Amino acid sequence: MPRHTIVTMPGDGIGNIVLPESIRVLEAAGFDADWVHADVGWACWCSQGNALPQRTVDLLEAHRVGLFGAITSKPRDAAERELAPELKGRGFVYYSPIVTMRQHFDLDICIRPCRSYEGNPLNFVRRAPGGGLEEPLVNAVIFRQNTEGLYSGVEWTDPPSEVRRALETHPKMKAWARTPSEDLAISARILSRRATRRICEAAFRYAAEHGYPSVTVCEKPNVIRETSGMVLQEARKVQRDFPHIAVHDTNIDAQMMWLTKNPEDYGVIVATNMFGDIVSDAFAGLVGGLGFAASANIGEAVAVFEPTHGSAPKYARYEVPIVNPIAMIASAAMMAEHVGEVEVGRRIHAAIARVVEEGRVRTYDMLRMKGAPDVVLHGAASTSQMTDAVIAAL
Ligand code: NAI
Ligand code: MG
Repeated sequence: MPRHTIVTMPGDGIGNIVLPESIRVLEAAGFDADWVHADVGWACWCSQGNALPQRTVDLLEAHRVGLFGAITSKPRDAAERELAPELKGRGFVYYSPIVTMRQHFDLDICIRPCRSYEGNPLNFVRRAPGGGLEEPLVNAVIFRQNTEGLYSGVEWTDPPSEVRRALETHPKMKAWARTPSEDLAISARILSRRATRRICEAAFRYAAEHGYPSVTVCEKPNVIRETSGMVLQEARKVQRDFPHIAVHDTNIDAQMMWLTKNPEDYGVIVATNMFGDIVSDAFAGLVGGLGFAASANIGEAVAVFEPTHGSAPKYARYEVPIVNPIAMIASAAMMAEHVGEVEVGRRIHAAIARVVEEGRVRTYDMLRMKGAPDVVLHGAASTSQMTDAVIAAL
C-alpha cells in the first residue's frame, strides 16, 4: 500500500500543466503515494457557483496534505457573467478558493523560500565597488502570517453606523468627522496574539533547524504601533526560547530598498499577511521570479503546497507547454519534506540545482524570451523537457 495519500488540485490554466509534472518528479524520486484528484477553481465556480467544492474540502479534511496548482480569479461582475445561466441571480458570490482554503483550514503559516540557484541567468546582480558585476547568493525564507492582518476580509465601503460610531471612540477618527460614510472605505488590520505567536515560533524553529543565526521581523512598528508592535513583541518573547538566534527588525519600506543592495544579508524573515506577501514577491524577483517561487501553507491539521504563480491563462493552451515547472516541483519537494520524506525533498532540490547550474536545459523565462509557442524552436526547453532534465539529474 502506498505510504502517503495526497490530494491533488491542479485547478485552472497552467496549474493543469505543472502539477502532473511535479508528480512525475516525486515518483521518480521514489515518493510512494495515492494521488486523489480534487476539483477546484473557475470551472467549479461556473458550473456550481462555488470554486471550492465540498468534496474537495472533505478530501483535504480526510487526507490532510494537498498539492495545489493555480486558479483563475476574476472580478465580481466577470464572475457573475460567466456563471451557468441557471445559477445566475441566485446569490452566489465568488470567493478565491485558495484564500477560502487558507481560512477554512486555518493554514496560518505560509513559508516562501527564496534561494538563488547558482548559474541561474535570472539571479540578481549588482555593480561591484571596483567595477564589474557581483552576484550575491540569496538565501531568504519568508514566514508570512497567512490568515489575518489586512487580508482578513473585514472591510467596508460606506461602513454601517455602529461601525462608524465604534471607530469614532478613537480620537484619531476626528480627521474624518466631516467625511460622509459613503465616501469612507475601511479595511481592518486584525491580529490575534495566538496567530502572531505561531508565525513567530515557526520562523524561529525553522531558523534553529536550518542554521540561520537570526530572524528578521519585517513590519512598521514605529507607525503601525498596535499590530506591527504586537509582532515585534511576540518575536522578542519567542526569541527567549532560542538564545542562539538573534531577532532583528526592519521596516517594510526600508526592507524593500535594502533588498536590492544587500539581499545576501537576510535569512529568515517573519511578517504579517500583506507585508509577507510583498516582501516574498520582492525576494522571489531576485532569484528568478514566478517560475521559481515555491510555497507551503501549513495549519495544525492540514497543509497545502503550491507555486506562488497564478494560472497564466495565455500559456495554458499551447500545444507544447512552455512554462517553467520548477516552482511547482520545488513546492512538491517541500510537501515531501513536510510528510517526513526529507531525503526525497533534498534530492529533488539538489536535482533542480544541478539542472539550473549545468544550464543546458532552460525554459523561456530563464532565457529572457517573450513567451510564445515558438520559443521551443529557438532553444527554450518545453515544460516536459525541463521536468525530464530534473528527473535525469535525480
Ligand atoms: P500569473 O502568475 O498567472 O502570470 C503572470 C506572468 O508570469 C505570466 O504571464 C508569465 O509571464 C509568468 N509566469 C507565471 N507562471 C510562470 C511559470 N511557471 N513559468 C514561466 N512564467 C510564468 O499571474 P496573473 O497573470 O496576474 O494572473 C492570472 C490568473 O491567475 C488570474 O486569474 C489571477 O487571479 C490568478 N492567480 C492565482 C494565484 C493562485 O492560484 N495562487 C496567484 C496569482 C494569480
Ligand atoms: Mg502575492
